[in-house]
Amino acid sequence: RTPFGLASMAEKKASGEPIVMVTAYDFPSAQVAEEAGVDVVLVGDSGAMTVLGYPSTVPATVEEMLMLCSAVRRGLSSPLLVGDLPFGSYEVSDEQAVRTAQRFVKEAGCDAVKLERGGTSIQRAKAIVESGIPVMGHIGLTPQTATALGGYKSQGRDAVRARELVADAEGLEAAGCFSIVFEAIPSQLTDVIMKRLSLPVIGIGAGPSTDGQVLVFHDLLGMYAGHAAKFVKRYAEIRGQMIAGVTAYTDDVRNGRYPQPEHEYTMRDEEVVKLRE
Ligand code: KIV
Ligand code: NA
Repeated sequence: RTPFGLASMAEKKASGEPIVMVTAYDFPSAQVAEEAGVDVVLVGDSGAMTVLGYPSTVPATVEEMLMLCSAVRRGLSSPLLVGDLPFGSYEVSDEQAVRTAQRFVKEAGCDAVKLERGGTSIQRAKAIVESGIPVMGHIGLTPQTATALGGYKSQGRDAVRARELVADAEGLEAAGCFSIVFEAIPSQLTDVIMKRLSLPVIGIGAGPSTDGQVLVFHDLLGMYAGHAAKFVKRYAEIRGQMIAGVTAYTDDVRNGRYPQPEHEYTMRDEEVVKLRE
């Protein structure tokens, strides 16, 4: 496969071909994304919940994200690899943001980074872009600051908040972001913002008119036991299959059905005789 780069994103937008993005957090999920032919892989800080077991994305550390990103890097060659900057790793200053972004590129092999919100994040995005690292924005429902938003709620359903999101999207484009994720916003608002932007927009619960879609790996495959948002479509029920597999193994061991002769190593008879001498 030919590598999917920033230019490929713009080309897909221009031709109207949807951009496909999925999250991944480790070597096997990266290989699955690669083989399935997705365009962009995001090592989301959703991994804090899906693979690290935290109750939200807030506790994710840079070190944890770098470990997940490195594992994904080793399983991926063609798709664009975007790493999520975790909460607290970029908000303090432009310098902090650039230093963190550099670690994602140098230590984990990310092609680009993603950060959340408009407002002060617009200046941070600009600083990272100016340092030579491509940045993806993320507006609407931003889980890192969900508490301040009043919970995990769709955003921009009233005109005041909707106008804020329009300004945030325009600010992120002006800052030089190569793409923006719209999460959990009304489709009508997506349409309004899309008309004002020229960069490719990836939606998750933002309706059909974005340039592409993203879903969390564990949500679309049914691997996560927690709550699933309205926008999630399940394409498989892997968790059930995993439990069934481990339950069958447990039963086999407890009932003496595993291992069978075909799973055994053997010695030749004369070696057994010598061993017993
Ligand atoms: O962390 C994540 O998985 C994300 C996507 C849902 C966009 O930020
Ligand atoms: Na995220």
